[in-house]
Amino acid sequence: MEKIYVTRPLLPEIDEYITEIKEIFESQWLTNMGKKHSELENTLKDVLKVPNVSLFNNGTIALLTAIKALDLPYGSEIITTPFTFAATPHCITWNGCKPVFCDIEPERMTIDVNRIEEFITPNTSAILGVHVYGFPCDVEKIEEIAKKHNLKVIYDGAHTFSTEINGRGIGTFGDITMFSFHATKLFNTIEGGCLTYNDDNLVRKIYNLRNFGIRSQEIVEEVGINGKMNELQAAMGLLNLKIYKAEQEKRDKIKNFYDKNIEGIKGIRLPKMSDNVTNSYQYYPIVIEEDYPVTRNRLYDIFNEHDILTRKYFYPACTDYDCYKNDLAVKLADLPVVNDLKNKVLCLPFYGSLTEEVLNKIVGILKGQK
Ligand SMILES: Cc1ncc(COP(=O)(O)O)c(C=O)c1O
Repeated sequence: MEKIYVTRPLLPEIDEYITEIKEIFESQWLTNMGKKHSELENTLKDVLKVPNVSLFNNGTIALLTAIKALDLPYGSEIITTPFTFAATPHCITWNGCKPVFCDIEPERMTIDVNRIEEFITPNTSAILGVHVYGFPCDVEKIEEIAKKHNLKVIYDGAHTFSTEINGRGIGTFGDITMFSFHATKLFNTIEGGCLTYNDDNLVRKIYNLRNFGIRSQEIVEEVGINGKMNELQAAMGLLNLKIYKAEQEKRDKIKNFYDKNIEGIKGIRLPKMSDNVTNSYQYYPIVIEEDYPVTRNRLYDIFNEHDILTRKYFYPACTDYDCYKNDLAVKLADLPVVNDLKNKVLCLPFYGSLTEEVLNKIVGILKGQK
């Protein structure tokens, strides 16, 4: 059996992409807010059910720009969680702000809203929630806390393409949400990402920040960066928009197979998404509890021995990174749920073309540990 990866990129038919590339070559317009860029930006408003979309060359630069666009005071504190990808706290730090790490909820694994207020100081400027694996943060409670303390709210929605809460696009919660369109994400533009937001006043600011702050040939309004998505990326996105739903349907079948076959296995917990939330089908995480016969790390190695690559996502926690662990606040931080779950979560292979043979093998390995 060939190596099984934790995910595979969604790819359109190559001939369709070649046709797109030909058009781009003929137009001789490769980047700088071209035709494909505009088309993708507009289409995504409907897909994500949001009033404003700004495309970016990747999700990290998008998140970096989101923090910048909100004019948070230099040196201020942003409350987030260490149960995320490195980009989340790094974007805070690159903005000259300080990531303050809060614990997570055991079920949805997002920021623990009952603990956020413990971390609020006069220096706090924002909350940056991460919708981990597609599980949305408790957006209502976060909004309530933010209003009470006059804080901005940013969401890292890298895993929540197309997610809705009670029919409302997840990108409409908080001040700004970032989506990643990296090759490993359900919907990809090879590399790429976007910001979504309700406030029309942010359109101009984000447009400028993404383009070196340049407004016109002679006017530079902001200290911007180069965050522009190019036409080849946008073309990939337009084609993948036609097929991402079919991929989600295939992943739904795989999810049902996993759910049905894993549910009864002693020592494995399946985190549940609430009924009012649509699944983005980005990841399939399982939690290996103490009463499972082997540890998560051992199980990961066993899968590797069978050429099945799973992911200890998110291990290590960001608070374990060399660049954060020596911070006094990090050393003193009380993060029991993160420190427990970082050793227990395993993301299983999850993509539409997984065969029944492979799925049976994966479940067989999970059941076979004694
Ligand atoms: C939670 C999270 N935040 C941020 C990112 C960064 O996005 P990108 O790779 O598009 O820069 C990723 C994934 O790559 C992610 O998983």
